[in-house]
Amino acid sequence: MPFDKRPLIVIFVLIVATMMVACSGVGSKRTAEATEGSRLYDLYCSACHGDEGSGGVGVPLALSDFLNTASDEYIYKTIQLGRPGRVMPTFSELSHQQISSIITHMRSWQWRSKAPKYSNEAIIGNPKRGGQLYAKHCAYCHGLSGEGGAGTGVTFSRPRSAKILAPALNNSGFLASASDHMIKATLIQGRAETPMRSVRTMGLKDKDINDIVHYLRTFEATGEAGDQQNEPRVFSKVSQFEFDETLDRLRTAIKRKGYQIIREHTLDAGFAEAGTENSKQWVIYFANFRFINESLTRDSRMGLFLPGRITLIEREGKVSVLAVNPMIYNQLFSNNALIELGRTLQHFYLAVLGEATSS
Ligand code: HEC
Ligand code: HEC
Repeated sequence: MPFDKRPLIVIFVLIVATMMVACSGVGSKRTAEATEGSRLYDLYCSACHGDEGSGGVGVPLALSDFLNTASDEYIYKTIQLGRPGRVMPTFSELSHQQISSIITHMRSWQWRSKAPKYSNEAIIGNPKRGGQLYAKHCAYCHGLSGEGGAGTGVTFSRPRSAKILAPALNNSGFLASASDHMIKATLIQGRAETPMRSVRTMGLKDKDINDIVHYLRTFEATGEAGDQQNEPRVFSKVSQFEFDETLDRLRTAIKRKGYQIIREHTLDAGFAEAGTENSKQWVIYFANFRFINESLTRDSRMGLFLPGRITLIEREGKVSVLAVNPMIYNQLFSNNALIELGRTLQHFYLAVLGEATSS
């Protein structure tokens, strides 16, 4: 009678199946985290840092020199704090779990070596001497006071072929995220495939590097974008004058400031049936073409602010003049160059609203 192998095969299959389930149980947690991290990275980061960290408006994140010198703590804090005023947003809405899974995903780009860890001890050098070395070796890229390469980081104001923008080193987000020892490791390693060379190739010795690191710590942290939290969304002023007189004063004030009125009509023009529009709700569009050109060459996103627009409304006998605060858009951008333009527009709006509504 031939030996029946079927029960053995069944047992063998069962053992293999049990092992597979057990192993996938261990692996699946990590895989699930990496998948979630990949999804979050695509959603929040890839528009600037490129698919798979290849770089774009934001610096490349998949470079091995970066991943081999950046600690998890540095990446974590950078995501949480952003780089106020330097395009890199603050992601305070992401949970601890979400940030961690983004980091797990970024680590999957790293070949072989693991996330480095650093002591948080301060490096003590001679900051005065460090300042001299900085001025000689670093300032022409990172700016004399660490303000970083000029521009908004957006391809419109920076040719696509241009090298990666040097990050700001006086930035509150950077200074709070990087430990002294991580900065030192970055300087020694450099970042191959970017303009950032190893300081060893500049002939700098260990003591020189300590002096520079200590000097970087003396940079006063700047982060202007953070100051915008208390900006009002809309400027609104009640006029001393009747509707028609306020409208005339508004036109005069706009022109006197060198702006041209492009068009004006009732607020509901095109929505209400012709002839039934509310003539006591009026909107004026205006522009200064030199300012538009200047702004758009700096950054195409300035198109959001332009042309300027002021609304005049009469309700229950009260005439009000309203304008959206241009600084509200700036909260979306977190960029010092745009904040400057936004402030110019803001002063313009406030002056015009003032002149139109009171003598
Ligand atoms: C030729 C231009 C250039 C010079 C000179 C230069 N850097 Fe950089 N540096 C860069 C660029 C570009 C990056 C971004 C590299 C990247 O994409 O990862 C960078 C990155 C860094 C970083 C990492 C910060 C961050 O947010 O990514 C530090 C710290 C730094 N540089 C410090 C220095 C110091 C200190 C010196 C002088 C000893 C120096 N650099 C000289 C261009 C330069
Ligand atoms: C709107 C564009 C933008 C978005 C979105 C963005 N970043 Fe950035 N990021 C930047 C820029 C620009 C810098 C360089 C800062 C500078 O120029 O001073 C930067 C810097 C960084 C750095 C420091 C790199 C270094 O070399 O030290 C890390 C890490 C980083 N970003 C991670 C992320 C992650 C993760 C996300 C998504 C959660 C993200 N960023 C989303 C633009 C962006």
